[in-house]
Parts: sequence; C-alpha cells; structure tokens
Amino acid sequence: MRGAQASDVLGPLLDSRARALRDLRISVTDRCNFRCRYCMPREVFGRDFEFLPRSEILTFEEIARVARIFAHLGVQKLRLTGGEPTLRAGLPTLVRMLSEIPIDIALTTNGSRLTELARPLADAGLTRVTVSLDTLDDEVFRWMNDADFPVGAVLDGIDAAARAGLGPVKINAVIRRGINDHTVLDLARYFRGTGHIVRFIEYMDVGATNGWRLDDVVPGAEIIRTIDATFPLEPAPSNYPGEVVRRWRYANGGGEVGVITSVTEPFCGSCTRARLSADGSLYTCLFATNGTDLRHLLRSGASDDEIAATVGARWNARDDRYSELRAASTAELPRIEMSYIGG
Ligand code: GTP
Ligand code: 5AD
Ligand code: SF4
Ligand code: SF4
Repeated sequence: MRGAQASDVLGPLLDSRARALRDLRISVTDRCNFRCRYCMPREVFGRDFEFLPRSEILTFEEIARVARIFAHLGVQKLRLTGGEPTLRAGLPTLVRMLSEIPIDIALTTNGSRLTELARPLADAGLTRVTVSLDTLDDEVFRWMNDADFPVGAVLDGIDAAARAGLGPVKINAVIRRGINDHTVLDLARYFRGTGHIVRFIEYMDVGATNGWRLDDVVPGAEIIRTIDATFPLEPAPSNYPGEVVRRWRYANGGGEVGVITSVTEPFCGSCTRARLSADGSLYTCLFATNGTDLRHLLRSGASDDEIAATVGARWNARDDRYSELRAASTAELPRIEMSYIGG
C-alpha cells in the first residue's frame, strides 16, 4: 500500500447503504476519572469493575499502524476518545506518531487534564479539541460527573486549549430533562462571543447501564427555541456532508451554537464513522454489539493489506442505522458501553 490511497485508485470504500468510510474514532483507554451518571454510573463502574488489562490494550505502534491503514482506505479524520483519553500515559507521543499521517487529528476530552496537556498535545500535532461540559452550575456539574470535579477546572482547561492554538474549542453538553436543562441558556450566554462553539447533545440510549428513558431527552428543537427567545438564532449550513451537528448562528453576532439530535432527527443516512475500541476491535456503529477483532490480526503477523482487506470487507457489509430504527423494542437489546467504544 504505497503511493496513492487505495480509495483514490478504486473509488471510496462504501458500505451496503453507499456510505463512505471517512472518520475513525480511536478509544485509547476504557478508564475515566469521572463517573458521569449517564455514562459510567458508580453502581456499575465501581471499585470492583474490571477494566481492560494493559496487555489487551493496543500499543501506540499498533494504533498508529491501524490509523495508517484506515487513512489508505479513505479516512480523513481521526478522533481520539476514551473513556478519558488524557488518562493514557504519553498521549502526546501517540499524537506525534499519528501526525506523520496527513490527516486531521482531534481529541474529545472531559477537560480535566488540559491545563497540563493542551500545550504538549498541540506541539505534538493535535489540531482540534472538543471538551465535554454539561453545565456551568458547579453543584449540578459535580453531581453529574459524580467525582466532585469543579466547573472552574474544566474552564481553565478550555482556556489552556485556546491558548495552545487548539481553538475554536467545541464544547459538548449532554442535556437531560430535569437535571441540567435549566442551565442551557447560561452555557449559551457564557460562550457566546468567545469563538468557542457549544453543541447541545440529546441524551442517547447508549450502553445498557444508564437507565435511559425517552422522557429524559430534551429535543434539540426545544433547546434552540429556549436560546432563540433571548438570543435570536438563524440556521447555518453544514461545514461538510455528514456533519452531525445542526448549526445555528447568533443573528446579532457572537458566533454559533449547535444541536446534535441523534434521537429526534437521526443522521445514520450520512454516517461515515468507524470506531476502534481500546483493545483493538472495530465497531461500525455506536450502538453495535459485536466488533471485529483487529488486535488478533495485528499480533499474528498479518500484513497491512490483509488487515485492510478485513476492514474493507466489514465496511462493505455494514448495514447499521440504529438511531433510525430506535424504538421501544431496540431499547431492550444488549449494547456495549460508550466508555469502551468512545463517544
Ligand atoms: P467534528 O465535526 O469534527 O467536530 O466532530 P463531531 O461533530 O462528530 O464531534 P464529536 O465527535 O464531539 O461528536 C459529538 C457527539 O455527537 C458525540 O460525542 C456523540 O454524543 C454524538 N455522536 C457523534 N457521532 C455519532 C454517531 O455516529 N452516532 C450517534 N448516534 N451519535 C454520535
Ligand atoms: N448520550 C449522549 N451523549 C453522551 N456522551 C456520553 N454518554 C452520552 C449519552 N448517553 C457524550 C459525552 C461526551 C461524548 C464523548 O459523548 O458527554 O461529550
Ligand atoms: Fe468519562 Fe466522558 Fe463517560 Fe463522563 S461521559 S464518565 S467524562 S467518558
Ligand atoms: Fe452511525 Fe450508528 Fe450513530 Fe446511526 S446510530 S449515526 S449508524 S453510529
């Protein structure tokens, strides 16, 4: 696989619904220092929870090799996720290795370690960062992350990222009815005019441990109405086909906000994302139950071409569109946890 990308020569790799493979989200650890109640509830992810042993987690060399193979297959964007990716020791070293691939490298983080890491990550070649911050209300935030972590430290991390040149920083806020929906306007107001972009995410039924109910979801349209009543909004076009966020611009200046409406307006039709778990399995949907074990291939002497052929065959067969099919019956199906596969 030298020279031109396989996708340049053969055309894009397509799945059974004609969706190309464009993004790879790489989970570098299944651990997290937060215990967000909608993601890693303490009752499940407590002291006795068995995280992946080190030997099962892909090494940096293995991750970089997989990333290179995916780039040859047409992937244009890598996103490092977790768990919490900054808990993986030496993360800037991995970013430096990945930066040898001509590709966009982004990071999704809870922001808790960005004051120390933003600069080394930027120096290593990270291009963008998305920080999860569900509310500015300190009491509500400490309750939601269930690790007593304060809002101020995440805001410091966001500032550090901006100073390191990782802006515009995207801020992801998962909104749950009756928990933090009353703080939506504060978040919008705080970041309006800063150049950072807040994206409000509908609470999803990922994983099997968070006890999700449709009643907990605040529709994106409602969130936009709430903000628009104080700061008038007008719709803005997508930056690229398949972008998950619906963008809205402040009519009187101050930048933009967005909503990610995976429950009320699913976007499976243009979903170009693949996910690699920390232990090297390939998942073709956030709601998948079975992965394709690439680690075994990596560790048994398979060539790049053989691994590419396995990925290509899996992608060709891909039929996933969970969010479009979401219904009471699918809510009962087994699912893997988001902290394992990355958001
Ligand atoms: P950029 O446009 O590069 O910033 O990436 P992005 O908008 O995909 O950002 P990000 O990866 O932060 O995605 C935001 C959130 O949208 C995720 O954390 C998920 O909650 C949700 N999301 C992203 N991709 C998917 C997907 O494929 N399916 C579903 N159902 N939700 C998704
Ligand atoms: N619904 C929506 N978003 C979620 N995230 C984690 N769990 C859920 C869920 N159940 C978000 C995190 C982070 C990203 C990785 O995914 O808040 O922004
Ligand atoms: Fe950790 Fe992110 Fe899950 Fe919260 S949502 S527990 S910060 S991985
Ligand atoms: Fe893609 Fe699956 Fe999410 Fe649909 S539900 S957008 S197929 S990851």
